[in-house]
Amino acid sequence: MLSLKHSLRWVYLLAACNVIIILAIMVYLDATPLDQEVRLTIRESIQSLTNKFDFTYLKGINKDSKGSAQDTGYTLEPGNVKFKFVNPKAKQGDPKEILEQNTRKYTEVMNQKIAGPKDFDLDLIRAPSDPGTYEHANATIVALVRNSEAIGIGRTIRKFERSFNGKFKYPYTFINDEPFSDKFKKKMQSYSDAPMEFITIPRELWDRPESIDAKKQDELMQIMEDHDVGYAKMLSYHNMCRFYLGNFYLLPELQKYRYYWRIEPNVDFYTDIKYDVFKYMEAKKRIYGFTINLYDIDRSVETLWPETLKFLNKGDNYKYVNKNGAFQWLLDDLQNPRNAKTANGYSTCHFWSNFEIGDMNFFRSEAYMEWFKHLDSTGKFYYERWGDAPVHSIGLALFADKKDIHWFRDIGYSHDPYLNCPHSDDTSGCKTGLLGQWEHLLDQNCMANWIDYSMEDTIGIY
Ligand SMILES: *[C@@H]1O[C@H](CO)[C@@H](O)[C@H](O)[C@H]1NC(C)=O
Repeated sequence: MLSLKHSLRWVYLLAACNVIIILAIMVYLDATPLDQEVRLTIRESIQSLTNKFDFTYLKGINKDSKGSAQDTGYTLEPGNVKFKFVNPKAKQGDPKEILEQNTRKYTEVMNQKIAGPKDFDLDLIRAPSDPGTYEHANATIVALVRNSEAIGIGRTIRKFERSFNGKFKYPYTFINDEPFSDKFKKKMQSYSDAPMEFITIPRELWDRPESIDAKKQDELMQIMEDHDVGYAKMLSYHNMCRFYLGNFYLLPELQKYRYYWRIEPNVDFYTDIKYDVFKYMEAKKRIYGFTINLYDIDRSVETLWPETLKFLNKGDNYKYVNKNGAFQWLLDDLQNPRNAKTANGYSTCHFWSNFEIGDMNFFRSEAYMEWFKHLDSTGKFYYERWGDAPVHSIGLALFADKKDIHWFRDIGYSHDPYLNCPHSDDTSGCKTGLLGQWEHLLDQNCMANWIDYSMEDTIGIY
């Protein structure tokens, strides 16, 4: 290592000498009364000499490295943060044609036969023979549910145990804004013998902040409801989204964990998962795992993107943006131009958050938290209906490296009416290759954009 460094220093020194000599000759040429033709010949030979050497590794010479929104899709400077969709795959056609191309792409990928991810030796993280003595990853399964949802979440847990957790026995953390009843607890314990914790969210982490004008919210949500934005008038939904985005990670009982896997009532798992998904996340330093990409209701997030840009353009907040973020995925407006228009530039494409496997340390980080605080200060978790999925997704696309966000293509999963159904020997009970059975919903799929812009190696990983 040392000697390599040493010889590199010599290469640099020699290159620097070359540059100095060439510059000196050029200055000399300009200052001397030489014959025009001689001068030209010398110039030409210098030119051919410099062409033979690649000097671009010398700092400052490569002028194109800075980039601009025009060619790289982003500008990141204090007070001048901009993103632009630059159509990296040069897709062409009207929205209907784009939808056809994208659906074809998605179906093609889904139909390829796969097993678990190939970028890690899964034999190192197989199910233990005795989960009781197993050294678990630092992780928990999380369900935010009410007592009244016992049957629905029970259904999920039975499937989840069969698919994954029966083999690994990761602890469950049940979270509720009201105390769980004994009946609920007993029922959950009958579904799994993994450790379980039941948590009541402190009021101050859940309730609508005092600063929110309830009357203003009622009026604005009536308008939302008139535009068919689901759950707009349900206060607990607004509380839930805000909670999941910020205060969730601060719950005292979750401080002892790093990774979480979120489950919801009445979802389905179709795959026999034979490796420890948490240990895969840990080993590959993944920040976030998802199964489904969808467009959102554009009206629910009209000012989410402008507010985000406002935050990024304040002070030196530009520094939080990860240069390898999933910007193009956030901005592609080809399939659903109306969405991007209503949402002021945000495609509304998001990771469907009823399934998420995440590294809470990312969401506890300064970048994410400062941004969340800004969003919260606008009051628009109540005056608009920002869902937890689009907010999570924008945060991830901006502040994480896109290679650390992982599509669990191998995990068969559904939350009606959408599904992720891989073509694999370990999967049964779902129909491979489509987002769902309803033709008219296929335009809600934006996974092709993730595949096109954010995956370096679509095929190689599975
Ligand atoms: C698990 O992760 C949390 C959050 O990073 C950390 O505080 C805790 O010490 C970790 N526990 C172990 C056993 O490593």
